[in-house]
Amino acid sequence: MKDKTSQKNYIGLGAIKNLDKYLGHNKVKKIFLVSGKMAYKLCGAEKLLRPVFEKYSVFNFTGFSSNPNLVDIKRGLKLFKKYNPDLVIAIGGGSAIDVAKTINILAAQGASPKDYILKKKKIKEPGKKLVAIPTTAGTGSEATQFSVIYIGKHKYSLKHPYILPDCAIIDPQFTLSLDKKIAAATGADALSQALESYWSVKSTPESKKYAAQAIKLILKNFQKAVKHSNRSAKLAMSRAANLSGRAINISETTACHAISYPITSYFGVPHGQAVALTLGSMLVYNSQVGTEDIMDKRGIEYVKRTIRDLIGLFGVSDVHGAKNKIHRLLKNVGLETKLSALGISNKDIRVIIKNGFNHDRMKNNPRRLTKENFLNILNDLR
Ligand SMILES: [Fe+2]
Repeated sequence: MKDKTSQKNYIGLGAIKNLDKYLGHNKVKKIFLVSGKMAYKLCGAEKLLRPVFEKYSVFNFTGFSSNPNLVDIKRGLKLFKKYNPDLVIAIGGGSAIDVAKTINILAAQGASPKDYILKKKKIKEPGKKLVAIPTTAGTGSEATQFSVIYIGKHKYSLKHPYILPDCAIIDPQFTLSLDKKIAAATGADALSQALESYWSVKSTPESKKYAAQAIKLILKNFQKAVKHSNRSAKLAMSRAANLSGRAINISETTACHAISYPITSYFGVPHGQAVALTLGSMLVYNSQVGTEDIMDKRGIEYVKRTIRDLIGLFGVSDVHGAKNKIHRLLKNVGLETKLSALGISNKDIRVIIKNGFNHDRMKNNPRRLTKENFLNILNDLR
């Protein structure tokens, strides 16, 4: 069985040159290429990979939405089955990589896509080999065994070790010309994933190591990478994004991610912006954990120590200092810290609570949340 340790990983400037070697080694003939419509061209990948792809038969699947839905997946599955590739390549942001992961795994199963998405049936068969090549620095999807699919406005995930890409090529050159808004939102996703992973009830020493490394890199490089397009800062953000993906592959995400999904699907707020909104408030909330609401089996002292570690990583004296630092950082890269600035009203907050509250990810938060607690947190962010 494939597992999280079975991934071949190339990281660094010029890492893309390993693709040709990998394809040759795997005796590939037919490639199902999943890519974003514009990003594939704009990031320089199309031009760079043209001579490589000339040697193979390539079918390019594109034109899916940025929050991939079941309609996109069904269209992709039809084309995938007709083409019958022997390998899949995903080039793009989290959406392109998630679409490739979902199509590849579902094409290998017997029943209808919905049966697996709604967890009526279990994934049993591995898909074709999958190579993930991120062109943003944020989601870390190349490092995870999950994929996200929307049915209508509702978010679902698939999870299985078979979904983890067999090969990840993280070449920061593709992020160098990234739009500032996308760089900010995806970087905020990496920060949120790393923090949530660090305090998740499913964290392990290994996931905490990845998350801490990611946090250090992001605090040092995020602003320089987005505001000043600093090259070495962008390289560091690519590494940080991958580390945040590795961290959540073990620990999963928590409350900030759970509540972000309706913010994205109902109000069109980009994923990274949506998750980062509640990050500072959740850090403060989790620091006030007590015997009556502890969710982590390792106990209160353990959670308090975890929060103290985070305060240390932020180089501040208390949790409020860390929250302020998060909000300053978000503002400095051009992101919002208030719901009203994103066009979300009081009435909308009810919609967010109703649709984000019962999410699986909520159970991973170290301090139990009631709807009232969350309402207070969102009201403070108005
Ligand atoms: Fe995320």
